[in-house]
Amino acid sequence: MKLLKKVIAAALVAGIAGQALAADLKLGYLVKQPEEPWFQTEWAFAEKTGKELGFEVIKIATPDGEKTLAAIDSLAANGAKGFVICTPDPKLGPAIMAKAKSLGLKVVAVDDQFVNAKSAPMTEVPLVMMAASKVGERQGKELWTEMKRRGWKLEETGVMAITANELDTARRRTDGSMSALKAAGFPAKQIFTVPTKSNDIPGALDAGNSLLVQHPNVKNWLVIGMNDNTVLGGVRATEGNGFKPEKVIGIGINGVDAVTELSKSKATGFYGSLLPSPDVHGRTSITMLYDWVAKGKEPVKFVEVTDAVLITRDNFKAELKKKGLGG
Ligand code: GLA
Repeated sequence: MKLLKKVIAAALVAGIAGQALAADLKLGYLVKQPEEPWFQTEWAFAEKTGKELGFEVIKIATPDGEKTLAAIDSLAANGAKGFVICTPDPKLGPAIMAKAKSLGLKVVAVDDQFVNAKSAPMTEVPLVMMAASKVGERQGKELWTEMKRRGWKLEETGVMAITANELDTARRRTDGSMSALKAAGFPAKQIFTVPTKSNDIPGALDAGNSLLVQHPNVKNWLVIGMNDNTVLGGVRATEGNGFKPEKVIGIGINGVDAVTELSKSKATGFYGSLLPSPDVHGRTSITMLYDWVAKGKEPVKFVEVTDAVLITRDNFKAELKKKGLGG
């Protein structure tokens, strides 16, 4: 009897402790550009997952290296056990991993892969990312299709490709897009590239402007970039240089970042966007971390999220709704 009581008491204590542990579990979610709806969507779905599985998500904006390292310290001070991160700079990978290790935190990377001091991908860090080359190829194919539909003459058309080649996922997207256009029959000599200094609309606008002044004879433009903001910056540059919307086709990537543009009462040169799955990125990355921290289940090293749907002014509301992304 006495023993039974002891066993019951021990079980109760263990049960309560177990519950307390789950309720207290904190996991970080650090993103480089919180102003992008892409990252807001990842955050929202990570939080949703936390509510379902019983942990708290600490969301921190980390636009630079200093803020990133400070965020990791503050997570540890708050008792978090690990974090998901889209790093502001892939080269921070070794510093992020060293700090996380010293504080006993587990790390899952999302969207942008870390690189080591030799610029090689840090494949040892679990990563959730979009199928960059495939989505890029799709961008090129859709641009070709819309150009054909508009009946543009090839010799009057140029490609404005705004690149960010130091970021592997960006390079693979724009490379994929240009390859698909060439494969479809677009002349390579009419594809012009320009690097952007920053991955936002103002950076891409500057890049686009500098490209346009060099090619005054082009009548129609196809605009390529690694995400919606890059393409939006390019489209804004065409507008500033006097191109009418019907002379420009820009197709972005991210989808959720294109909602404001596609909602405008009049069509612009921004034709549409490829919508991948920010919801899946947020949910999968945080679940991998949770399983690792709470259940000791080692995550797989690489999860590639495929499939993207083309959203335009005609279908974006319905497509976002289908994915549970509102709109
Ligand atoms: C990069 C881009 C984001 C988004 C993600 C998707 O981080 O900067 O805008 O496209 O990739 O993985």
